[in-house]
Amino acid sequence: METLNIALPKGRLGEKVYALFEAAGFPCPSIKENNRKLIFENKEVGVRYFWVKPSDVAIYVERGAADIGVCGKDILNEYRPDVYELLDLGMGKCDMCVAGKADFVDDRNRTLTVATKFSRIAKEYYAAQGRDIDIVHLNGSIEIAPILGLSDVIVDIVETGTTLKENNLVVLERFLPISARLIANKANYKFRFSMIERVKQGLKELTEKNK
Ligand code: PRP
Repeated sequence: METLNIALPKGRLGEKVYALFEAAGFPCPSIKENNRKLIFENKEVGVRYFWVKPSDVAIYVERGAADIGVCGKDILNEYRPDVYELLDLGMGKCDMCVAGKADFVDDRNRTLTVATKFSRIAKEYYAAQGRDIDIVHLNGSIEIAPILGLSDVIVDIVETGTTLKENNLVVLERFLPISARLIANKANYKFRFSMIERVKQGLKELTEKNK
């Protein structure tokens, strides 16, 4: 049987996503035994899973190293990979937000400084409002930027709101709902259509039940 290569996002979303694939009939028991190994295969079922950084899932899938994968809508909007988006899994829900100090007042006569990991999303959001901004691109711990005066506001994902709260920041604008999506490599989707569709249908039935 041919093996389907599946890129899963390492971290808090990944565990839940794997559980969904398992429940859909594509288990790989060894994945639970070892927490340093990155690739796991179940030849009987025909699946090979690998853990990658959430922001890298789309790269593996776009280049065909993975046939399918799961990544957030935030990554798809930011990097616009040339992949098929097959299914909204309805998990990993969060929002793209503008956040800042509670007493922040926007002076539209000044260029707004925005710290973010999501430069394209932030640029498009402010361009649509005709607002001049200066982007400070950071790779993580974005919440620190307004506290230290590196930026006026941040554009980042907010899930529970705990990170903002613990750093004395508030949501100023919630503008893009995010959730996890099943994506597929365009060429491999054709070559492995029946297997990929079986996975998609299995996941779809489960996620619809969840909704
Ligand atoms: C994300 C995001 C926020 C946090 C939001 O960071 O950038 O910092 O999660 O979650 P919350 O609303 O539930 O607190 P992530 O954990 O991906 O780490 P990072 O700072 O390295 O980007």
